[in-house]
Amino acid sequence: MTQTTRPEPGRPAQIRDGETAEQHAAFEARIARGEKIEAGDWMPAEYRRQLIRMISQHAHSEVVGMLPEGEWISRAPSLKRKTLLMAKVQDVAGHGQYLYHAAEPLGATREVMLAALLSRRAKYSSIFNYPTHTWADVGMIGWLVDGAAIKNQTMLAGCSYGPYSRAMVRICSEETFHHKQGKEMIVLYAQGTPEQRAMAQEALNRWWWPSLMMLGPHDADSPNSGVLAKWGVKLKSNDAVRQEYLDEHVPELLEAGLTIPDPDLFRGEDGHWHHGPIDWTEFWAVIKGEQGLGETRLGARQAAHDEGAWVREAMQAYADRERRPAQAAD
Ligand code: 3HC
Repeated sequence: MTQTTRPEPGRPAQIRDGETAEQHAAFEARIARGEKIEAGDWMPAEYRRQLIRMISQHAHSEVVGMLPEGEWISRAPSLKRKTLLMAKVQDVAGHGQYLYHAAEPLGATREVMLAALLSRRAKYSSIFNYPTHTWADVGMIGWLVDGAAIKNQTMLAGCSYGPYSRAMVRICSEETFHHKQGKEMIVLYAQGTPEQRAMAQEALNRWWWPSLMMLGPHDADSPNSGVLAKWGVKLKSNDAVRQEYLDEHVPELLEAGLTIPDPDLFRGEDGHWHHGPIDWTEFWAVIKGEQGLGETRLGARQAAHDEGAWVREAMQAYADRERRPAQAAD
């Protein structure tokens, strides 16, 4: 039986006009059976919208995420560190590409997604609006930021949308290398000269709270979590992922001899680490570009977009030329 397309009292808001309760039930049964949803499959409009929102924001985060560390390639302290950092930044560019590709079959064009980023309608991760002041920031980004990203993305590797899930598997394996090189570097500096120890500690002081924030607002303030959990996109909540991140990273940072800049941090009888209050005012101000480097980051992306126009035009001209003989034969 087909349900009317008019909203009915009591009808879940996620069932849009033109969709039926039966379609939703069949879709949710597929997810419950652990099947992956592929781009050409039927899906609720709200599932599609949420995926485009989340995957495109993730892609933007990767692309903008090249900037804070990319600035340090020319200033790396050794050839080894330079090659590691170059490889890492190139990986991140690739992650942006996989993610844009995962969003495109859902109906989002690359042009529309990029326009949303450059016009500030789309978000990207708050973490990349913080500056990199010293070389230790490169290590701290690897250890903390990529460590947080891996916790979140390992969870997303199990998500219900096939293309995103598969992209996450590949991305997480590369992120693991990013995380290891950052941790190796900071552990070395934490055991090094007084100057190196001070540099590592000072970097931790600046990156600790932003890395906790990047995992998203508390569950009670996360409007998207409900529907994403219902449809198997988010398999863990923002706070659950943050807890895993804390429980892994706090003991490791302490073992490295570093001081975590949170006077309220404690290990509870439940065996879990608990942090003090997070400054969510800072989080929202950074996302809106009112605090931090939002304008600088988007200015750099806009410049790269403008300077790359000739490449896009050349590729379009090549594609047009390749198509021409086939059309002539028609
Ligand atoms: N930065 C910017 N915006 C954020 C944010 C953050 N750290 N955390 C949450 N938000 C935004 C959300 O996008 C949402 O805004 P919107 O509705 O206008 O789109 C709003 O705050 C409310 O948050 P919700 O918790 O309701 O949002 P989500 O349910 O989408 O959860 C998330 C947020 C956990 C970040 C989720 O979107 C997610 O898992 N995204 C995919 C992973 C991702 O984007 N990671 C970014 C870092 S990538 C990285 O560090 C890799 C490195 O190698 C470059």
